[in-house]
Amino acid sequence: MFTLSLKAMLGSTVAFAAIATATAGELPNPLNDTDYLDNGTPEPALVELGRMLFFDPILSGNRNISCGTCHDPGRGTGDGVPLSIGEGGEGFGAERRTGSGGVTGRVPRNAQPLYNIGARSYRAFFHDGRLEPDPAGVFKSGFWSPAREHLPEGLVSPLAAQAMFPVLSPVEMAGQKGENPVATAVAEDRPTDAWDLLADRLSELAEYREMFRDAFGTSEISFVQAANALAAFQAVAFRSNGSPFEQTLRDGAFGRLSDDVWSGVNLFYGRAGCDSCHSGPLLTDHSFHAIAMPQTGPGKGHGADTSYWRASGFMDRLEDEGRFRITFEKEDLFAFRTPSLLNVALTGPWGHSGAFDTLEAVVRHHLEPEVSLNGYRGKALPELDAVIEQTGKGSRLIFRPMNPARRNAYNRRDSWVQSNKHLTKRIADANDLAAVDLSDREVGQLVAFLEALTDPAMQDRQDLIPVRVPSRLPPQPPPHKGK
Ligand code: HEC
Ligand code: HEC
Repeated sequence: MFTLSLKAMLGSTVAFAAIATATAGELPNPLNDTDYLDNGTPEPALVELGRMLFFDPILSGNRNISCGTCHDPGRGTGDGVPLSIGEGGEGFGAERRTGSGGVTGRVPRNAQPLYNIGARSYRAFFHDGRLEPDPAGVFKSGFWSPAREHLPEGLVSPLAAQAMFPVLSPVEMAGQKGENPVATAVAEDRPTDAWDLLADRLSELAEYREMFRDAFGTSEISFVQAANALAAFQAVAFRSNGSPFEQTLRDGAFGRLSDDVWSGVNLFYGRAGCDSCHSGPLLTDHSFHAIAMPQTGPGKGHGADTSYWRASGFMDRLEDEGRFRITFEKEDLFAFRTPSLLNVALTGPWGHSGAFDTLEAVVRHHLEPEVSLNGYRGKALPELDAVIEQTGKGSRLIFRPMNPARRNAYNRRDSWVQSNKHLTKRIADANDLAAVDLSDREVGQLVAFLEALTDPAMQDRQDLIPVRVPSRLPPQPPPHKGK
């Protein structure tokens, strides 16, 4: 009843404010320039340098993958798959496979979208927030991070600090020990050497030397500068405040939103309680919650359970305990950072490991988290058909393809957590999200609202991908149609 009368009231900001109070929750103010790093206008030379670096495979140990491979502006700034196949893979998006050379494993979590990642309100980065500012000054860099005291000074924002890390991940960008000097430095816990080696690579190219000089006024190239440039680019390129919902918040022209969307707004900020976590202009509280999200794939390998290890002979523990592995606080068990919902319709599959293929499914999960977890039947990930493993020691390190029997045992890790009652019970027991009773029609209205959070200008930003990059390697990803 209430929702129907809404439409009649619409037409002025005053009426709009009345709706906000009536729905109990607070409607956010849309973001403007000053809410972004560099007040939304970093130096163009810095942005252009960042753009080249973002799509240039030169930052990967084996020169075979770029940031853009997993954060493709034509695929919702992700790669459209639950879990990325990193360096060594071949193909793009849903077609990406292990390739003839093979890979050592999957990237354990869903590639995060980068929309509005330059908003100052982002403080803790990654699904588990393992990189965040360190106001107490424990580390000279000013950040808590996996590199601890090794992280250098001079990083201008947490977003810049984040860019120091993908290049250190063997499975994402660096590669395996012995394959290239960057990967070897990473494997030997010498991150500073890895960053210096990458900076040296850039220094060898006249075009990069010139671009760094334009951006920083010096011909000394450091990886910290590269990271600052990557941050400047991401902040500008993926800034997005043009969804119909935000336009309406800005100009009060309510007529552009359908009845279903309005009913969705009312549910979201009202009875469904979504805004208790998805609050503020980005529809996230930037905080961490356990919502019994199912896990697909092998996880971070940092849990406590040894069942897979005992059954398979692989020394791995598979459950992804999320924020708990950073804080070791019990309430953070299986908690992940609340995602922003701006452009959420473009960023599937959804959940920290890409467990759900449709928006409707992930919304329904929220309504009955534990029932959904227990009923979740998993999903088929593209098989890792060429898995390589390391044998030998020191300089006698060799990589060889797994034999079929071992590979079968290895591939079972993809569904292990979800098919293990003890583990799913631990995930369910940690749940913090209360069940909500909504009709099918109301679920449809919430989905209609989520779709009204899509900025038409962000549907496809492949125009950001340069035709050529200074290394002369093929920029990644190549032009494409569809996901
Ligand atoms: C192989 C795929 C892959 C590549 C290559 C890659 N990323 Fe990511 N990115 C991910 C995944 C997966 C996550 C989430 C990781 C986690 O939470 O553990 C992520 C997270 C991020 C985040 C954090 C977003 C947030 O909301 O906290 C940023 C920013 C980012 N990546 C930027 C980059 C940049 C810059 C590069 C290149 C230097 C890069 N990525 C290369 C897959 C990739
Ligand atoms: C208790 C806090 C909380 C509440 C309340 C909540 N969410 Fe979420 N939501 C989260 C967290 C945390 C995640 C990510 C969980 C994960 O991946 O493990 C999430 C994920 C999502 C996603 C997937 C986004 C993505 O990028 O993967 C959507 C869509 C979503 N929520 C919509 C809603 C809607 C609609 C409601 C109201 C019915 C709602 N949420 C209520 C915390 C919450």
